[in-house]
Amino acid sequence: MKSDVPVLYPNEEVAKAVTEYAATNSGGLPAHLHEYHDHILNNEEKSNLTISKYQSRAVMWLAKAAGAKRVLEIGVYMGYSSLMWSEVVGPQGKVTGLEFNPDYAEKAKAAYAKYGATNIEVVVGDALEQLPKLNPDQPYDLVFIDAQKSGYPAYLRTILERSRPGQKRLLREGGLIVADNVLRRGLVALNNEANPAYEGEAKAVQASGYWSEDDIKCLDEFNRLMASEKRIDAFLMPLFDGVGLGRLVD
Ligand SMILES: C[S@@+](CC[C@H](N)C(=O)[O-])C[C@H]1O[C@@H](n2cnc3c(N)ncnc32)[C@H](O)[C@@H]1O
Repeated sequence: MKSDVPVLYPNEEVAKAVTEYAATNSGGLPAHLHEYHDHILNNEEKSNLTISKYQSRAVMWLAKAAGAKRVLEIGVYMGYSSLMWSEVVGPQGKVTGLEFNPDYAEKAKAAYAKYGATNIEVVVGDALEQLPKLNPDQPYDLVFIDAQKSGYPAYLRTILERSRPGQKRLLREGGLIVADNVLRRGLVALNNEANPAYEGEAKAVQASGYWSEDDIKCLDEFNRLMASEKRIDAFLMPLFDGVGLGRLVD
């Protein structure tokens, strides 16, 4: 029997080489996404908030395979991932982003204008308040959750509550939930000294500006809810910082 825990990466050197090899042997990103990602990395102090190029490829592939034409993003930052969704859904599709920091929202909008992306709208405000108020003319095919981690359980509950059969809904039947950072450097699974991330967690919380000490508990609550909710077919993908995947069954 094959093990579920293959020792693919016995050390950092192998992990780096395997990841680079896998990225090289995957389809590429459009030039404007490369350019904007590089711009963020070279110019923004909190550039680590943005999804990596390789992870972008993974979720773009998934969204394209699912035929997503309408995407809701919770947590826009500089607009890199919403540009990525814009590329996935195409000019006839639609992307809605929720972002509470007006400066980030403005920078994101400037990027959409620069790259001619006319199919993205940004709602500026706290997603915890804005999500329950959204009233899309058609339901979304995919919701990408990438805002403050303490909000993940509430976002999931709202999506479920507002996407019931027979009602006007946020997420369509069979639609996908994609949630970033659900393993939080492994701390959700192993939150003690054996995990090298354990020691730096308090500093990382302070530096991020919007992470909180409750994040690990809330991410664990989110992961358990995804797995136990009968209306969701869940798969937690232990790649990158952990990607929570859910398909809304009804
Ligand atoms: C990890 S970043 C998003 C990165 C973006 N998805 C990307 O990959 O390019 C999280 C963003 O969510 C925003 N955010 C955090 N909590 C929020 C909330 N309650 N409502 C709206 N935006 C929020 C932050 O201001 C930040 O810009």
